[in-house]
Amino acid sequence: MPNILKNDKDLKVKAPIVEALKTAYDNPTYQFHIPGHTKGLGTLPDFKNLVGQKALKVDTTDEFDNLGTLTPATGPIKEAEILAAQAFGAKRTFFLLNGSTVGNLAIAMGLTKKGQKVIVNRNCHRSVLTGLIISGADPLWIIPEKLSEWGIWGNIEAKDVENLLKNNDDVSMVWITNPTYEGVVSDIKAIADICKKYDVPLVVDEAHGCLWNFNEKLPETSLKLGADIVVHSLHKTGGSMSQSSMLHISENSKVPADDVERALMLLHTTSPSLMLLGSLDAARANLQSSRGQKQLARAISNAKYLRSEIDKMNTIHHLKAGFGYKTDVTKIFIKADGLSGKRLESILEIDFGIEVESASDEGLLLLSNIGNKRSDFEYLVECLHKIDIHNYKDIYYLENKKHMPMLTPIIKKSLREAYFSEKEIIPKKDAVGRLSGEVVAECPPGISILLPGELITEAHLPYLADYEYIEVLKG
Ligand SMILES: Cc1ncc(COP(=O)(O)O)c(C=O)c1O
Repeated sequence: MPNILKNDKDLKVKAPIVEALKTAYDNPTYQFHIPGHTKGLGTLPDFKNLVGQKALKVDTTDEFDNLGTLTPATGPIKEAEILAAQAFGAKRTFFLLNGSTVGNLAIAMGLTKKGQKVIVNRNCHRSVLTGLIISGADPLWIIPEKLSEWGIWGNIEAKDVENLLKNNDDVSMVWITNPTYEGVVSDIKAIADICKKYDVPLVVDEAHGCLWNFNEKLPETSLKLGADIVVHSLHKTGGSMSQSSMLHISENSKVPADDVERALMLLHTTSPSLMLLGSLDAARANLQSSRGQKQLARAISNAKYLRSEIDKMNTIHHLKAGFGYKTDVTKIFIKADGLSGKRLESILEIDFGIEVESASDEGLLLLSNIGNKRSDFEYLVECLHKIDIHNYKDIYYLENKKHMPMLTPIIKKSLREAYFSEKEIIPKKDAVGRLSGEVVAECPPGISILLPGELITEAHLPYLADYEYIEVLKG
């Protein structure tokens, strides 16, 4: 467990960026620098009133007010990164703007080179692919298990990682996603042990698992189980503001952290938002405090309550741990007999005013967040009970489009080579038999349907319902 502060009345949780921003706010200067809205006076009053002038007064970037710098980390930002590293159990932590996306880009750019092989699960986020296009490394795909009756990808088998390592003696990295968007958890310990046996670093895109180090009822973190690098989207479930994430290097890792830092320096904005950085600092401090601990315990208990109520229903079901995989209790993937995930989503939204995390072909995802109240869940349960007995019907046009790609790719050209090849845009009706020129990845969950260099087949068409034209390779 991390450094949890038992009683934050006696022992205040430190949040250096938040403190520095408060000091800057309390000691305003005459401002002759960016941002040009100058504490909110130079913007639309409606916007200022909406977000509040105080928010605009602390909207500043890293060169001013003794706030430190992001790359390289100095001052309060450096202090906050050190505290985050301690809280998450890492040797080094980097704060990320532009989400875990920029973390994945920096890992690819800093640690892989053109032509190197990287073992990657096919259902990775599109930012991993973008990273590989930038670096030129070649993905060796792992096709995870498919949980077909749920219409989602399942766990990654350690034996599949080992088979690829056995048959390719030039793999430079294993890079896997854990948990999946829907909360399926693979056996990271087994995968990490195999990576150690073959002396290959393990990167885990744990974008959806940033809470795990803060409660023993959640799965074990990849940092503890032997991963070298872990990326966390704090903004997704950890309580920070949208776009803010962290990248951790593990205690015993031999990967060159400086190479990742150099790549981050090139990829990051040169005007980092202190508000976003402050929100990362605040989220970490909150999770370490007794208040945050209670919130997380409540999120877990709310999720258990929801699951136990769904167990009483006849037509609605929730995904539980199964053979070879565990689940994160706070991510509740549900499906209803006779309804597509998209139809169930629209019923919840239109008839009950409930907005879910995402929906796909078979089901939809609900998150039990640290900010949710018990009454939110009581209302949700009441609505699901109504849906359970109402006999809703599917709607044809919603069924007609598919959302969660579960196809095995037919690769004809390497990712980077295809990406930089000559391309043309053609009507979708002529696309079958051609090689894709673009990354097609609906977001969420950002899992690719087609990548540059892959053969377009009839099976892809239901996923391309919104496309009239598509970019393909010439010739
Ligand atoms: C597995 C995974 N990795 C990375 C990302 C990118 O995260 P961010 O939105 O923080 O850039 C996502 C986003 O959904 C994701 O699902």
